[in-house]
Amino acid sequence: MALEYSQEDIFPARIGYTIDKEFDYKDSLVEWILKYKEDNPSVKVSNVGGWQSRGNFYQEEESFRPFMDKIWKQISSTVDNYAEDLELRHLITNNHVLKLMNIWVNVNTPGSFNHVHVHPGSLLSGVLWVQYPEKSGHFIFRDPNTMNNYCLGLNVHEVVPTEGTMAIFPAFVPHNVDLNESEGDRISISFNLDID
Ligand SMILES: [Fe+2]
Repeated sequence: MALEYSQEDIFPARIGYTIDKEFDYKDSLVEWILKYKEDNPSVKVSNVGGWQSRGNFYQEEESFRPFMDKIWKQISSTVDNYAEDLELRHLITNNHVLKLMNIWVNVNTPGSFNHVHVHPGSLLSGVLWVQYPEKSGHFIFRDPNTMNNYCLGLNVHEVVPTEGTMAIFPAFVPHNVDLNESEGDRISISFNLDID
């Protein structure tokens, strides 16, 4: 007998991150969001407590345009790196364009959180962490294959947000946001992308 063992860990999911090391528009962005929140009711999706804007709110808000330009720049750059060695690269460069399907703002006030959810109908999803008071809720990715819980034990991946960092991930990856145990507002901007 001559036993030789080998192994492969298969089907990973890619999460891409880009940090804006300056993030010099943070204060004005937070100010804009909190003012907008005062004047507009929350929608109810995965959020428990807190406030969430309606999707594509920015289209009727000309004053958000300068922020949108910067956010789109970060999205484009992140996807550019993300797609580098993927089939996605060929799709984007061969007559297809990356399209922003939806974007919305989350203000998780103290005591609020987001249930586990996915973003159906899109290819990629993402989040820009704008304001993160310590202990205001980690971002938790969950393995879509729940049986990995019993095999590899790698079914949860926890991310501590940093302000100015954007994460992009496959829209099918379940995720949730932990309870905001701080005394401040946790603010993020979420979005969905597809190729057209
Ligand atoms: Fe989400």
